[in-house]
Amino acid sequence: MNRLAVLTSGGDAPGMNAAIRAVTRCALDRGWAVTGVRQGYAGLIEGGEHFVSLAYQSVSGIIQQGGTILGSARCPEFMTVEGRQKALHTLRAQGVDGLVVIGGNGSQAGAWELAQIGFPVVGVASTIDNDLVGSDLTIGVDTALNIALEAIDRLKVTAASHERAFLVEVMGRQCGYLALMAGLAGGAELVVIPEIEVDPEEVAQTLCAAHDMGKSHALVVVAEGARYNAEALAAYFRQHQERLGFELRTTIIGHVQRGGAPTAFDRLLASRLGAGAVAAFARGETGVLVGMIDNRVTTTPLARVVGRQKPIDPELFALAQVLDKP
Ligand code: F6P
Repeated sequence: MNRLAVLTSGGDAPGMNAAIRAVTRCALDRGWAVTGVRQGYAGLIEGGEHFVSLAYQSVSGIIQQGGTILGSARCPEFMTVEGRQKALHTLRAQGVDGLVVIGGNGSQAGAWELAQIGFPVVGVASTIDNDLVGSDLTIGVDTALNIALEAIDRLKVTAASHERAFLVEVMGRQCGYLALMAGLAGGAELVVIPEIEVDPEEVAQTLCAAHDMGKSHALVVVAEGARYNAEALAAYFRQHQERLGFELRTTIIGHVQRGGAPTAFDRLLASRLGAGAVAAFARGETGVLVGMIDNRVTTTPLARVVGRQKPIDPELFALAQVLDKP
């Protein structure tokens, strides 16, 4: 290995910078040159000024920063054969021997495409959705969860003052992990996730039961990917407002969850996974995703990662049902 490149792709996740730092410094430590690719796969296709040389000092002072110093993008052109051929050409022209892709499901699908046309790639599991097979936890999800939790704690205070019910929607695409964990940690009355469909009337009755028990507030955490997300549930409540007889407010936390400084957990996870990616290259192991399973840095073939979604833990869902009862 002479030159290793690194890029971040898809939705940014707190801790990506710590991963870039670890990849850069571990590769330099082995005597390899390092290139950062700006704007993800779009930068890979464009080449030129999107390729920047990374030295030890280039990644100083970034471990505590959210976002990604390399920038990120969603790149439809990379989904085409022509786009990938252009990227391959640029990588070769820039003298790059291997590529680390820090990102979530879509980004790892891109990595797998590159691997299949013969370019050595290693993925690093990073997404606030925590939906990737091949890592118990992904870089960014701990920070996103803590941000959602802070919002939930604050909403409970105002909800109690006004005796209101709240719907709080969190991100996660089609994965309910963030919602389930935020609901458990935030003491929600109910959690609605894409993996287990719930009838909106059941949500309404849960909130009514909380009210009847004399609770001063009630809170439902909804995953954005659920069939009845916050918007759909709010519409149902508006339609039945007279019968249900309580005030409901909706908060969509949205992209706020992606910003902010990474937690200690995310910084450490990112440092370990970034180092793991360099170690994989040193072993000659490519076409894999580096993740954390049972607190150990592991590799999983990208072929087994791509196109799948990690299922939620049914025990945790069952626990939420017991603990969250009004
Ligand atoms: O994959 C991360 C994520 O934040 C999802 O939770 C969310 O659905 C999506 O990205 C939002 O994408 P964008 O930033 O392109 O609006």
